[in-house]
Amino acid sequence: MERTPWWHDAVVYEIYVRSFADASGDGVGDLPGVRSRLPYLAELGVDAIWLTPFYPSPMADGGYDVADYRDVDPLFGSLADFDALVADAHALGLRLMVDIVPNHSSSAHPWFRKALEAPRGSHERDRYMFRDPAPSDGGSAGREPNNWVSVFGGPAWTKTPDGQWYLHLFAPEQPDFNWRDPEVRREFVDILRFWLDRGVDGFRIDVAMGLIKAEGLPDTEPGFGAKSPIWSQPEVHDIYREWRRVLDEYPGVRAAVGEVWTDSPEDLALYVRHDELHQSFNFAWLEAPWSATAFRKVIDETLTAVPAPTWVLSNHDVVRHPTRYGEGSLDPAAGLARGCAAFLAMLALPGSAYLYQGEELGLSEVKDLPPESRQDPIFARSKGELLGRDGCRVPIPWSGAAPPYGFGPGGSWLPQPADWAGLTAERQAADPSSTLSFYRRALATRRSLRGTLPDTMAWLEAPGDALFFTRGKLICVINCGEEPVRLPPHDQVVISSGPCDGTDLPPDTAAWLLTE
Ligand code: NOJ
Repeated sequence: MERTPWWHDAVVYEIYVRSFADASGDGVGDLPGVRSRLPYLAELGVDAIWLTPFYPSPMADGGYDVADYRDVDPLFGSLADFDALVADAHALGLRLMVDIVPNHSSSAHPWFRKALEAPRGSHERDRYMFRDPAPSDGGSAGREPNNWVSVFGGPAWTKTPDGQWYLHLFAPEQPDFNWRDPEVRREFVDILRFWLDRGVDGFRIDVAMGLIKAEGLPDTEPGFGAKSPIWSQPEVHDIYREWRRVLDEYPGVRAAVGEVWTDSPEDLALYVRHDELHQSFNFAWLEAPWSATAFRKVIDETLTAVPAPTWVLSNHDVVRHPTRYGEGSLDPAAGLARGCAAFLAMLALPGSAYLYQGEELGLSEVKDLPPESRQDPIFARSKGELLGRDGCRVPIPWSGAAPPYGFGPGGSWLPQPADWAGLTAERQAADPSSTLSFYRRALATRRSLRGTLPDTMAWLEAPGDALFFTRGKLICVINCGEEPVRLPPHDQVVISSGPCDGTDLPPDTAAWLLTE
């Protein structure tokens, strides 16, 4: 019997499948590629992996537009490849989570095709969000049913040939399901069972706060505020209560983490009540600037509101954190130093941590991708005004001195920078002073302390723009200021994210100290 359920303090590694490792040679990462790199992940010292969508998809949004929820896109392999991946991961002691995309399907999904062919008022249309136009001020054509805008820019409605409109909170190729329809609910329970029966340990739930929209679809302002008719409607929690019952039926512990964007930790906490999801991402940590005050506020608010917290600094939707922290700094290396320090602080906090592929190599955002290679729909929909998310999705450099740096036998679907030779996993594995070696040491140290630290933490008084906190015998210190700070009394420095002489903590550095 495990002391606490595995997800409680798990370190989970996000694999953006298209960009991780390509075994087939078509320039796109795939499941056999992931499988070939499992030993690397076991050696890194993570507990679980989360795979982004690999289902059949026209790839209008990198696979978050799913045409068939029970299969593998040939681009990524086959169901047999998936089964082999689960078996190998488990043999190495790694848990495996898959991404479920319940807010919307692809417009190529058979249900949506049928909906377009069916008349208004039909059951086929009712599985999605079709509406008649709002009466227009003079003309007869009508306009969008309400003022909602797509997260990717532009209206959230697209008109069909017969004059009705359908809702898509994201791209037009991602029509929203109607979660008030019982068949949609049954279908997703069945999809969960399909993957649970294949042995997955859990799910990451895409847009978990968006499934139910307020009755009547009233006009609104953008934002995740409590009064939004789009996000976090009370009825969404019934869905997760039902899903939790399904997860709990299965042997072992199967967990779910919600992608929940909210503007309050109290709202976030509703998703992780004992009979709902196990976890939700804590994006407030990722959104905090490089500042001890900002970090402390997020930590306090999170631990007050959420019983089983998570921490995350990067994912496939945001600018890589060394680049975020480096902005505004005169020293180009400062961003990476701060990124490593924030990582070490996050590993010291109670709860579980999510890493994003490539952060262990110290990759930064690739900002100069040529426009013609960009694939994020945000780039095209904003007519190039917004660069979008491709800069954090550039394929991983594994080995060698030139692109594609061992990503696969072919090229890579996004061009890799010419100066990544020093950042390959192969090169860094051989260098004890590399970011990869630091990540390995940090994860090994966390493991060595597992089960010996309390689930709570306490603040110590800290000078300047620094934070000191304790968890039992561990003291974590992080210096966000510009001057060195004196370390609190301790017996030993177990690990630090940069040079630390045992007396002072330099700027942009974190360390773990032990007291007996
Ligand atoms: C969140 C996913 O992480 C993102 O990549 C995707 O574009 C949207 N949800 C829509 O599915």
